[in-house]
Amino acid sequence: MRVVSGIQPTGSLHLGNYLGAIRNWVRMQDDMDEGSQCLFFLADLHAISLPHSPAELARATREMAAALVACGIDPNRSILFNQAQVPAHAELQWLLNGTARMGWLNRMTQWKDKAGKNREGQSVALFAYPVLQAADVLLYQATHVPVGEDQKQHLELARDIAQKFNTDFAPEEEPVFTLPEPFIPPQAARIMSLRDGSAKMSKSDPSDMSRINLADDADTMMLKVRKAKTDPEPLPSEPAGLDGRPEAANLVAIFAALSGTTREAVLTEHGGTGFGAFKPALGELLVEILAPIRDRFVALKDDERALDVILAKGADQARAIGGPTLDKVYGALGLVRGRS
Ligand code: TRP
Repeated sequence: MRVVSGIQPTGSLHLGNYLGAIRNWVRMQDDMDEGSQCLFFLADLHAISLPHSPAELARATREMAAALVACGIDPNRSILFNQAQVPAHAELQWLLNGTARMGWLNRMTQWKDKAGKNREGQSVALFAYPVLQAADVLLYQATHVPVGEDQKQHLELARDIAQKFNTDFAPEEEPVFTLPEPFIPPQAARIMSLRDGSAKMSKSDPSDMSRINLADDADTMMLKVRKAKTDPEPLPSEPAGLDGRPEAANLVAIFAALSGTTREAVLTEHGGTGFGAFKPALGELLVEILAPIRDRFVALKDDERALDVILAKGADQARAIGGPTLDKVYGALGLVRGRS
């Protein structure tokens, strides 16, 4: 098994990233058996597909690395790195651009959402974003790619690219690429904004009250939960009673995800309770789980030297694993790979 996944270094990590993605990475790392491997990376090359601040990017990449380590990604057991230090990602993307079809990329919902009505004004990188993502996983012959529901389409595209490349350029008995499986962990929770139960919790929401940041202290977390939007009704005793109550449903989902139980179990215990009592219970649970992560994060985030050592070591390991695949791709296309 080879697990590969990436996250954009968009600045600080929040509860949505943690419960939706990172916690599952940590579980996969902890469940690995011998001979299996996990590669986790900061997708800093993807970050230039939208307007960005160069001064911020390096800082955000280190900060995200610190956050991943704080959450439990162990650089001695997993390979943790950033794309920009492994040139093979960009090289392989270019080589795969010959295989990816315009029509496939035009169908990507993330492209349609991000480009909106102004497709002509977008960067080529935003359009080709899924090809780089395909390169990210195909480079390492990934077997499993843990992602959220919203990234499933990009993974299917990676499979299509791999399949077409194999068909076009490799003998049937010796395919160049492994077809990666998207792995959507059943426990992956989709966490919504604390101010609007129909919007995903997001770094880009202008209101900081809409999200719990990994860097928030205990008082801030308690305050944000206390101020979270709700409705006047008490909690129902079954999940069906949450229909049409997105804010209530979100708080229950967060409680369930943090305590490692189901929404049913949470409602069996708290059904009939008002938010005046449920919110403090939720706040305490949040603090209990996130405070140790926050402490590790704060201790590491400004230690540039330590973070650079971790990322450099990860990049060395990643380069070594990806090298043979890149050789094969150049060869299959009739190109001679130079030294880099
Ligand atoms: N596009 C992913 C996201 O926004 C991040 C990502 C980049 C990724 N490359 C990847 C995820 C490769 C999985 C595998 O969440």
